[in-house]
Amino acid sequence: MLRLVPLALSLAALATNALEWTFVQNGTSGVIPVELITISPTLMLLYDRADGNPLLLPSGEKAWAALWNLETNTPTPLSSITDTFCAGGAFISNGTLVSVAGQPLETPGQPPADGRMGIRLFGPCTSPTGVNCTVFEDPENIHLAVTRWYPTGLRIPDGSLMIIGGSNTNTFYNTGPIAEDSIEFFPSRPGEEGSVRPSQFLLDAEPVNMFPRSFVLPSGRVFVIANNISMLYDIETDTETRLPDIPNGVRIANPFDGTAQLLPLSPPLYEPTVLVCGGSAADDTLPVTNLSTQDPATNQCSRITLTPAGVAKGWEVELMPETRILMESVMLPTGDVLLINGAQTGYSGYPSVSDADGMSNADHPALRPILYQTEMPAGQRITQDGLPTTEIPRMYHSSASLTAKGNVMVSGSNPQPAVVLTSEFPTEFRVEYLNPDFITNGFPRPVVVSAPTKILFNQSATLKVDIPQSLLRGPIKVSLMDMGYVTHAQHANSRLVFLEHVLVGNTLQITAPPNNNVYPPGPAWIFVVADGVYSEGVLVMVGDGGNPPRPAQGVKIPVTSI
Ligand SMILES: *[C@@H]1O[C@H](CO)[C@@H](O)[C@H](O)[C@H]1NC(C)=O
Ligand SMILES: *[C@@H]1O[C@H](CO)[C@@H](O)[C@H](O)[C@H]1NC(C)=O
Ligand SMILES: *[C@@H]1O[C@H](CO)[C@@H](O)[C@H](O)[C@H]1NC(C)=O
Ligand SMILES: *[C@@H]1O[C@H](CO)[C@@H](O)[C@H](O)[C@H]1NC(C)=O
Ligand SMILES: *[C@@H]1O[C@H](CO)[C@@H](O)[C@H](O)[C@H]1NC(C)=O
Ligand SMILES: *[C@@H]1O[C@H](CO)[C@@H](O)[C@H](O)[C@H]1NC(C)=O
Repeated sequence: MLRLVPLALSLAALATNALEWTFVQNGTSGVIPVELITISPTLMLLYDRADGNPLLLPSGEKAWAALWNLETNTPTPLSSITDTFCAGGAFISNGTLVSVAGQPLETPGQPPADGRMGIRLFGPCTSPTGVNCTVFEDPENIHLAVTRWYPTGLRIPDGSLMIIGGSNTNTFYNTGPIAEDSIEFFPSRPGEEGSVRPSQFLLDAEPVNMFPRSFVLPSGRVFVIANNISMLYDIETDTETRLPDIPNGVRIANPFDGTAQLLPLSPPLYEPTVLVCGGSAADDTLPVTNLSTQDPATNQCSRITLTPAGVAKGWEVELMPETRILMESVMLPTGDVLLINGAQTGYSGYPSVSDADGMSNADHPALRPILYQTEMPAGQRITQDGLPTTEIPRMYHSSASLTAKGNVMVSGSNPQPAVVLTSEFPTEFRVEYLNPDFITNGFPRPVVVSAPTKILFNQSATLKVDIPQSLLRGPIKVSLMDMGYVTHAQHANSRLVFLEHVLVGNTLQITAPPNNNVYPPGPAWIFVVADGVYSEGVLVMVGDGGNPPRPAQGVKIPVTSI
């Protein structure tokens, strides 16, 4: 049978399966996955801080990094020289995961090194169990230009890492000399070795400007949100242009952690829309001791399309059924966004607000996820239908990420300055998965039988697929995804590009993203989605896989994004 599926049809909003989800708990992580990154079909990388963890290195020292095996549900400790606490990062164009900045503490058994300047290189890791996959560090020779903690790492169109903002100490409000309101790159750009670019925007966003939410647009420029303000950044000219504020005083960067996602980019126009959910509309001029764990977070989501017309229209507001802060947003292969973890009241950070009393800065854990249905009309996008309630509060320092298996790993929580097991919101090592019904019940799902390991921009490639007939009621979608570097409600680098494709029998012909602005060169996962049910992800290198910086690649598209 010949089955030709034209692209226009595949993007039409068609009624598909509404998924039912189930939480399943299995295993303990040994370290707290403050940072959670999907590495391979079987492995997740966990980064924490160097104190108190039950997981031990072969040397007997306490570990602060680990590989989580999705098949055995067990952690393997990883050795790292510097303290990775509250670092940022991304995969770069050669497939290496770069983690930058962290905590200053010197760590037992290691040479003196300031984690705030740390640059850690991991992988590519091809062993299914992670044997011989190590964190490479050379702190004497490879380090940041300045000390940072809570910065954002973003893979940019040349495949290198842009490092944005942060603080140089552990703080609630980031302001004055402790704020590192600047940008640098790894590798450094020519002529900028050892120096940084000051950012007026980050200065204006004090004191709520850590982990600025940042996205590469199809124009190659970068959209950044911190506090309640936003800007467009031109990397080549080092120019900042202010864009509309988030409405109603809602602030979303740390310590008022709301979450943000670039919604899927679809051909032929790849028009970018950014979604922001949760955070707090509290007055950021109040002293921290005048804030309370009981202050309600916001129930606001807002989105803006980053085209000239979209910017003129401004942010469109939608409301969640509950207030939310410290919440993760997980892009699913369908293009819907899962909002999960966090609290209904309070703030990020260590016990510091007036009534925290040595406990969490937040209260009223959010136990039931929310689904943001991207392709539904406004007013109908936000639902909790089909979503279960967990028993495990996941507050500050919790995380959630899509795995290559297609479920969501949910982990961590530690709103404490150390491992504390007796608090109302203790250090949480239990791992859960949020499984869609096709995984829970073992229903038939699409299978990618074979796929190339590398695709060049604008190039066609052929996949062999096996899609159950029962799911071929309508057009399929092919999703090319970066699952991001998850930490602090921030899914840096999360990206989904729907690929143009033609399905003929079991042969799926895809076309790679047109150029390195639409998908910055680096690793990606391909998922095939049929009737709302998706395959496991297949890892592919997009671009030539060379070390950054890579030259511009692919074809120019009529750019509609600012
Ligand atoms: C937990 O994971 C292990 C290893 O995959 C598996 O054998 C076991 O059945 C799982 N338990 C539950 C309750 O799912
Ligand atoms: C890991 O490295 C050791 C030492 O280089 C080598 O002998 C071993 O074969 C490697 N194991 C795997 C699975 O690659
Ligand atoms: C953003 O915050 C600033 C400072 O708190 C405030 O003056 C401004 O009105 C806010 N913008 C919006 C749209 O609420
Ligand atoms: C902060 O709280 C103190 C003690 O309750 C109060 O005296 C002060 O006016 C408050 N400050 C602000 C700016 O609200
Ligand atoms: C881009 O891809 C299209 C479709 O495959 C092809 O016709 C065109 O020649 C390609 N352009 C370049 C510059 O490779
Ligand atoms: C990837 O590129 C970075 C930056 O140039 C380099 O430090 C690292 O060694 C490269 N990784 C591999 C595996 O070549």
